[in-house]
Amino acid sequence: MSEMTNRSPDEFIAARVRDLAPSPTLAVSDRARALKAQGIDVIDLGGGDPDFITPAHIRQAATDAMNAGDTHYVSSAGTPALRQAIAKKLLVDNGIEVDPIGGVVVTPGGKQSLFESILALVGPGDEVLVIEPSWVSYVPMIELAGGRPIPVALRPDDNWRVTPEILAAAVTPDSRVLIINSPNNPTGRVLDQAELTAIADLARDHDLLVFTDEMYEKIIHDGNQHVSIATLPGMAERTLTFNGFSKAYAMTGWRLGYVAGPKPYIAEIEKIHSHSVTCATSFVQAAGVVALTGPQDFIPDMVSAWDRRRRAVATGLNAVKGISCPLVEGAFYAFPDIRETGKSSVEVADLLLQEGHVALVPGVAFGQAGEGHLRLSFATSDDLLDKAVQRIGDVFGRR
Ligand SMILES: Cc1ncc(COP(=O)(O)O)c(C=O)c1O
Repeated sequence: MSEMTNRSPDEFIAARVRDLAPSPTLAVSDRARALKAQGIDVIDLGGGDPDFITPAHIRQAATDAMNAGDTHYVSSAGTPALRQAIAKKLLVDNGIEVDPIGGVVVTPGGKQSLFESILALVGPGDEVLVIEPSWVSYVPMIELAGGRPIPVALRPDDNWRVTPEILAAAVTPDSRVLIINSPNNPTGRVLDQAELTAIADLARDHDLLVFTDEMYEKIIHDGNQHVSIATLPGMAERTLTFNGFSKAYAMTGWRLGYVAGPKPYIAEIEKIHSHSVTCATSFVQAAGVVALTGPQDFIPDMVSAWDRRRRAVATGLNAVKGISCPLVEGAFYAFPDIRETGKSSVEVADLLLQEGHVALVPGVAFGQAGEGHLRLSFATSDDLLDKAVQRIGDVFGRR
């Protein structure tokens, strides 16, 4: 065989990608799968994929659309029917007014809408404030865009509360965007009115855009309320709202999400969208319309399953030596505190995988602020969750 290239593979890899770490949550699942392939019975609580199947009427809508020939490219920003349904949902559920023409882009998954928006609105050297612990993909996306992620570290001992002081300490004249995520992955925190007001004050005072990731808005417990920051005074013109179908409608594999906000920004996002994915899948969008406009009664059923699981996990883990697990306010993850074990989150995750055969994500994957914690996903059956908690107790012992 002839020599392949004179340059080493490293020389061909773009500098902006070379140092990029793969998704740590997917890495956990890969390690769990590798152990399973060796015949080891691993319980994987690393992922964020609901174990519920998409409701039948939504699946039927996709099949019907496909069979009716809805198999072509559609309008890049999304089908008019889906954009209309999204605009109506945002008005009714969230109190946000957006124009379905020019104010919404439908993307293959919410992740893509975040990526396109960061690429469109974050330039080289622009600072993006990321409230941490944060979802694992914001920082790599900002880095790919050439921006500078600035962590805004919250404290577990203050229940991960956002305060004006913490925000003020992070903002600089180069700050352009602030990313918030409520309910939060991984902490489950639902931002309250005082926190939202502090964020809105900062955004107005320092002329920032706010990107609000509201993927888990339907999964909230204990009477906590989801409030969209775009509805606060003076915020509509500086807020992009991100949402999707993965979590509320158990549609992770379908890949469907969207971004909505002021037209001047959406127009730029649309350019990237049209040159990268063209459009989200046609018949998936037809199913998205039915998801938003059809019966919603399975959502409370799903939420009550998340509620049952969060209680069982918290009770089980609080009985384990070195672990303390508060009840989460929203989303479907526990974020237990393991500081009492005296070990790092990576050490504990390794120990649990090797000795307990339970895969969890080390908290440090969500930023330095997440150190001392682990993320455990409830996206598996009650029985398996129970078994996983037993195994964690076997590794650390019980109080
Ligand atoms: C906080 C957060 N944002 C965005 C996403 C992306 O969701 P999707 O691309 O499936 O819509 C996820 C998925 O886990 C998430 O947890």
